[in-house]
Amino acid sequence: MQGVFITFEGGEGAGKSTQVRLLAERVRALGREVITTREPGGTEMAERIRALLVNGEPEALSSTAEALLNYAARDDHLRQVIRPALARGAVVISDRFHDSTRAYQAYAGNCPLTLVKALERDVLVDTWPQRTIILDIDPEQGLGRTRQRMGQQGRGAEAAEDRFERFGLAFHQKLRQAFLRIAQENPQRCVIISAARPVEEVAADVWAVVHPLLQPEDAGAA
Ligand code: TMP
Repeated sequence: MQGVFITFEGGEGAGKSTQVRLLAERVRALGREVITTREPGGTEMAERIRALLVNGEPEALSSTAEALLNYAARDDHLRQVIRPALARGAVVISDRFHDSTRAYQAYAGNCPLTLVKALERDVLVDTWPQRTIILDIDPEQGLGRTRQRMGQQGRGAEAAEDRFERFGLAFHQKLRQAFLRIAQENPQRCVIISAARPVEEVAADVWAVVHPLLQPEDAGAA
């Protein structure tokens, strides 16, 4: 059986991780194997690379260095987690994937798009998401949510992971447009869902997009 690969994308504070969790619960209830994962991350090595990307000062890395690090992490994630799970027929739900590199590093940042396209072609090869849900939110509202969450959690032993949040509002406005552009460029794959609504309403829209992709195990076997 073929697996199903779904990605969530969007700016900061759009509620991706909550929606990933809720979707995973609903898919599991149908009896399918579900893998939830995130980028940068998802393997031990990729999580180490993540720490380099999300901590420290905004100017610590160029957009090009960020793109290369994200793709180093993504290559490991694809080989160790995503491709084996899809080959088993699992549903893989990733909190961010390749669109984040296009949006953050190329469209909103200044990494050459030619480099990002080459990395997509030679690292993803044939492993592209079937559906991408872009959770759209006004950046001021999204960043406000993130700050509130960090305030609640405190900044103790855990690193703040706020390097990208500190890029400034103008960057985050550009980022929102970047994700909308990606949706326009990939109308078959991408769906924009407004995230400025109650969690359950957003989850219902997500389910309406994903449910049709989940064929029963015996579908097509006849
Ligand atoms: P998260 O906050 O959604 O967990 O993601 C970590 C940060 O990494 C987030 O600010 C977006 C950024 N990022 C990129 O800049 N490029 C990428 O390719 C990915 C996957 C994430």
